[in-house]
Amino acid sequence: MSPKLVWASSVGVLAVAVVVWELQPALSNPDVASADQQVAAALRWMEQHEDWMTVPPEHGRFLWQIVEATRPRRILEVGSAFGYATLWLGRGLLGREGNITSIELLEERVEIARQALERAGLSARVRVITGDAFEVVPTLSGQFDLIFLDAAKADYHRFYEMLLPRLREGGVLLAHNVIARARQVRPFLDRIESDKRVIASIIRIGDDGFAFCVRRRGKESQGTTDTP
Ligand SMILES: C[S@@+](CC[C@H](N)C(=O)[O-])C[C@H]1O[C@@H](n2cnc3c(N)ncnc32)[C@H](O)[C@@H]1O
Repeated sequence: MSPKLVWASSVGVLAVAVVVWELQPALSNPDVASADQQVAAALRWMEQHEDWMTVPPEHGRFLWQIVEATRPRRILEVGSAFGYATLWLGRGLLGREGNITSIELLEERVEIARQALERAGLSARVRVITGDAFEVVPTLSGQFDLIFLDAAKADYHRFYEMLLPRLREGGVLLAHNVIARARQVRPFLDRIESDKRVIASIIRIGDDGFAFCVRRRGKESQGTTDTP
């Protein structure tokens, strides 16, 4: 093995050790461990209904990781559908403070999302609002630490302009399906690439992925300085 590869694998082992060490106090708490099992069971229940799994499990896992790593207190999801991704996001909140507001257009989907949240034991942490996010978001107060955008792809650029001012500085906005649906979200992708208010990347997981945008801090968050 070359010295570089040895170095890379040592860093990998160290990173895994740090994550395990970080998670360990939470999961060794029996209350958190049993809450986690309850969420896992609700996810398995949802996975029996293929059309309820609107993100693949590996994308749900990524959302869980992001919540664990960034520890947001206020999460906003735009496009809850049946609540599958909402459960993964909520899993990352176990054992600490934090809540989710999730918006969905279709009442019949909201009903299933509420059942899923109840099964997962997350009802008290998640508010699901039925309505058009373009009308609902302006009625919400304050800013969010993490925003997950997963609604109509053709509207992503309009959602983005509405949502970015609602993201706190240093906060993360994730947008789903930006690889598989790249054509529909092109105006959004062009916008984040040139927008000086964010640091944006595309993260591929399997056949699809996420736009990962971090809102810059201070003057940069207003887009008033040049990005190198
Ligand atoms: C791909 S699904 C969301 C999947 C969900 N995030 C998950 O992973 O489980 C997109 C959802 O966005 C909803 N939607 C589309 N436009 C919307 C809007 N303007 N406001 C609220 N919801 C919207 C649709 O009804 C649909 O259920």
